[in-house]
Amino acid sequence: MGLVLLRFHFYEMGGGYFLLIEAWAMVLMSINASDPDILSDFILPPNITAPDGNFFTFIGMRVVVGSKPLPNLKVTKATKAEFSALDGQSVSYAVLQFPSGGVNPPHTHPRSAELLFLVQGSLEVGVVDTTGNLYAQTLQKGDMFVFPKGLVHYQYNSNAQYPAMALSSFGSASAGTVSVPTTLFTSGISDEVLAKSSKTDVATIQKLKAGLAPPKP
Ligand code: GLV
Ligand code: MN
Repeated sequence: MGLVLLRFHFYEMGGGYFLLIEAWAMVLMSINASDPDILSDFILPPNITAPDGNFFTFIGMRVVVGSKPLPNLKVTKATKAEFSALDGQSVSYAVLQFPSGGVNPPHTHPRSAELLFLVQGSLEVGVVDTTGNLYAQTLQKGDMFVFPKGLVHYQYNSNAQYPAMALSSFGSASAGTVSVPTTLFTSGISDEVLAKSSKTDVATIQKLKAGLAPPKP
């Protein structure tokens, strides 16, 4: 929410009148700590007119219960996109399954904090604040860690033998995820801008871009 107050002053000077406008901008963005409040109990998508218990049920997490170890990191989400009953409810979940050595690269969630609960294995986590301080931790099964809203964070299962699994909750039905490496190196920002910004050369940037490019079909 933004609010601007305008104050008008008239001055007489040299036989004429001058108008002075003072503008006071009060930017209240940070007060919005969650999704907008809704004016109904819940929001129905246009294709549902008579909801029943199924509308409020999400079965997309059944696959993660007792699943076999996976070759790569898998994030299974229950956000508004997968579970439409969450629309307007300011909550969502993700289940993160890490093989040994699996990493969730540095990323942010622009619309929510993340509260991670480690249910299996051990996990290295870290979050960087806006002054560049890194807060890192090694979590054991049963531990929780909070990643404050909008801050860059990562998770890494450094255990060479065992997988890890975590449940993350969000205070938004659509927290959004911005991956730092993908945003920097696959969004089309020019090699020159990235090289200058990273104080390196274009060849190094091209190497990084090649490593992150989606595999050719
Ligand atoms: C983990 O940090 C996730 O956002 O899914
Ligand atoms: Mn996250």
